[in-house]
Amino acid sequence: MVQVALDPEIESKEIRSQLAEYNIQESSQASWILTRSKEDNLTVVDVDGRRLEIDFDRQVADYKRTHRGSGEPLAKALGFKKDVRNVVDLTAGLGIDAVFLAQIGFRVTSLERNPLLIFLLHAAQKKTQRPEIKNIKWIYSDAKSFLQNYQLPARTSCYFDPMYPEKKKAALPRQEMVVFRQMVGADVDARDTLRVALEKEFTRTVVKRPLKGEVLVDKPNFQLTSKLIRYDVYLPHMSQEVME
Ligand SMILES: C[S@@+](CC[C@H](N)C(=O)[O-])C[C@H]1O[C@@H](n2cnc3c(N)ncnc32)[C@H](O)[C@@H]1O
Repeated sequence: MVQVALDPEIESKEIRSQLAEYNIQESSQASWILTRSKEDNLTVVDVDGRRLEIDFDRQVADYKRTHRGSGEPLAKALGFKKDVRNVVDLTAGLGIDAVFLAQIGFRVTSLERNPLLIFLLHAAQKKTQRPEIKNIKWIYSDAKSFLQNYQLPARTSCYFDPMYPEKKKAALPRQEMVVFRQMVGADVDARDTLRVALEKEFTRTVVKRPLKGEVLVDKPNFQLTSKLIRYDVYLPHMSQEVME
């Protein structure tokens, strides 16, 4: 059960009922405080004052990244040029990739199992005026249980971006990343989740990995790389497709 302390300035019936929707308990002893930023975003603050805020309209964040459309490695990996337009993103996180995919023209369903994150994602979606973000379907669920009952529409790809292992000598990440890591932990079940996704036989299943990271399960059908990232692409067993 996740707990938050409520900043008295934002206490309201509405906030309390939204927290209850995601099973988030209010407690003055909690390690997270829920407050509002000066930009009026609901924000989680940790005991050391580090903040995590999701704001899809913020210029400095990655939510408006410029892109080469269908030429982007992630779009290519998911099969945009092969007429794939539906994506199930198993790992919403801060919603950066989901927003990017929606911006390119994918219809995105994005899952998140951390209640505080899905709470922040829904709040940020409500606040933004960007229509492509309004269209993203954010769902509070673990990917494995969601996939069990999921009826797969034609030409739908799956995107999986579990937490990377923490680098031993990494420079201290941005404060948001510190809070984010504390919040979600290590995704130790990533291999199991990927196996469940592969059984579904999506048009493509794409796994984001560090450039030199090991593959999560079996050998992918092909890989696409950019400067720091590698996408491992798995095709259905009987697929005749080749990469493009
Ligand atoms: C590395 S982050 C994803 C970042 C995301 N792609 C973005 O652009 O912001 C991984 C996220 O996936 C979530 N996650 C991991 N495994 C999951 C699962 N099986 N079901 C639902 N969410 C999961 C974690 O809670 C975490 O928030």
